[in-house]
Amino acid sequence: MVAALFAAAACRPPAGAPPETRSVAARAAAHFPEGWRFASGGGASFAADAMVSSNSELASRAGVEILKRGGNAVDAAVATGFALAVTHPAAGNLGGGGFMVIRMADGRNAAIDYREIAPLAATRDMYLDSDGNLTDKSVIGPLASGVPGSVAGMAAALAKFGNLPLKEVIAPAIRLARDGFVVDSALYRSLRGSSRKITRFDGAAVFFPGGEPVKPGTRLMQPALARTLQAIADKGPDAFYKGPIADSIAAQMKRDGGIITKADLAAYEPKWRTPIESSYRGYSIIAMPPSSSGGITTVETLNILETFDKLPPFGSAEYDHLVVEAFRRAFIDRNTRLGDPAFVNVPIAELTSKSYAKELASTIKADQASRTPSFAASAREPMHTTHYSVADSKGNAVATTTTINSSYGSGVYIGGVGIFMNNEMDDFSAQPGHANQFGLVQGEANAIVPGKRMLSAMSPTVVLDPDKNLFLVIGAAGGPTIITATTQIILNTIDNHMTLADAMRAPRLHQQAWPDSVFYERGGIAPATLDSLTAMGHRFGERGSIANSNGVMRVEGGYMGLSEPRSSGGAVGY
Ligand code: DON
Repeated sequence: MVAALFAAAACRPPAGAPPETRSVAARAAAHFPEGWRFASGGGASFAADAMVSSNSELASRAGVEILKRGGNAVDAAVATGFALAVTHPAAGNLGGGGFMVIRMADGRNAAIDYREIAPLAATRDMYLDSDGNLTDKSVIGPLASGVPGSVAGMAAALAKFGNLPLKEVIAPAIRLARDGFVVDSALYRSLRGSSRKITRFDGAAVFFPGGEPVKPGTRLMQPALARTLQAIADKGPDAFYKGPIADSIAAQMKRDGGIITKADLAAYEPKWRTPIESSYRGYSIIAMPPSSSGGITTVETLNILETFDKLPPFGSAEYDHLVVEAFRRAFIDRNTRLGDPAFVNVPIAELTSKSYAKELASTIKADQASRTPSFAASAREPMHTTHYSVADSKGNAVATTTTINSSYGSGVYIGGVGIFMNNEMDDFSAQPGHANQFGLVQGEANAIVPGKRMLSAMSPTVVLDPDKNLFLVIGAAGGPTIITATTQIILNTIDNHMTLADAMRAPRLHQQAWPDSVFYERGGIAPATLDSLTAMGHRFGERGSIANSNGVMRVEGGYMGLSEPRSSGGAVGY
């Protein structure tokens, strides 16, 4: 389908070196453009047994605490997830949703989808005004929320693959909420950046005492959240979906004009999915299927790139050109054909097939950018999601991405429960053919229907080396840049032989088909390369930084872990 949009063209770099088969072998320092903000050859955390990497060092420590108590990677991931809801409230959550990809060392792979769903009273045009114009109600306020899935999803993952009871795994999060933790400058800056949104709703009392964000160095206590976590620990997820917590959420929704009811909460169910399993140059890719687009789009891109025997050198115009043309093609499919598989027929096998990728690759011209129809679009809100990666001493691995969509979600804070509600409804095509807050233009497959999951870009991914040993646990935050950043980190480790530290510090590009622009990080493309790409017909947009990733990579004798060098967090191991 996408191939038909582009005239076939030949672009075959000469057949070169054999497919890369080194996995944990030594890696040379990468070559970054002069003036790029990070030096190559930098460090990451090393640990012999296990590693947790997230956007909050305290949450990573919660995971490590659980590992040391006999938990496995799934126990640790769930502990980290609950702790993130306390220490990283911009994105960590109980009021949102997420996706988890699990690789057990015994060879079992699993994926759980705990994406939010549209409330039963949702309607296709609920975000249009009487003139048919898109309002901001999918982004801010009580109508913006889908029915949260995080509590049910994490509990289900734990029940199936964990070693420890929920009570034990939630304990570090309860402690952090009840006894508090010391606010750091990252949390302070994040709150300050979203002050207009948060102070419109009930979160002001917790996070803006006296009208100012909680100051670095002070202790933040969240007693309502501690009570909520304790209730979940004591009674399981039903406490959230059916008990007094559900009453509080439904009552506040009703009071403020939202539509989520107790019936919506009681009906929520996470879904076990068959993970997308594919290969790339002999490595195995285990990725998230719909309702996330992450796995299909990553695999489609990698399959296109795999048709080239060897990629041009990292940072060259030829390399960037191939990578963005592959992304363009994969995103056209993503934005037009993917949606919740309970509502639309997603041709997963076709889109992830090697033959389809060959067809798409044949339309890439060696020295000329393709064109996709362009729509003007821009981001309206600071965005926030959070990815965390865990690997344990047995080689079990968990990649999880979770979100309330924008930073602090819809802004709505359920005071009695101590949680921010998501604004995930904006991930639907609120008006098919028009851009959402990430500039994503999507079609009918992702239109709003009650009970439907909105299409996500979240891409938690586990990569195995050619011997089927754990190699990389990766994923990111950043809307559609999640897919492109995750894919580029995989390329950096496999094709470009980078260490985890360099793979994550390397400059990132982004192309999502619409708008027809290559976004790049300031200083991330050498001027001469930019000139060559411009001559090929690529159009550009510069960004301060692209995506937010937390990764773990297996190396000789243990694991390397790194939290996003462009942001805050911590990789902790032992
Ligand atoms: O599911 C999605 O694709 C979006 N809700 C993710 C939003 C996001 O990554 C914002 N963050 N940085």
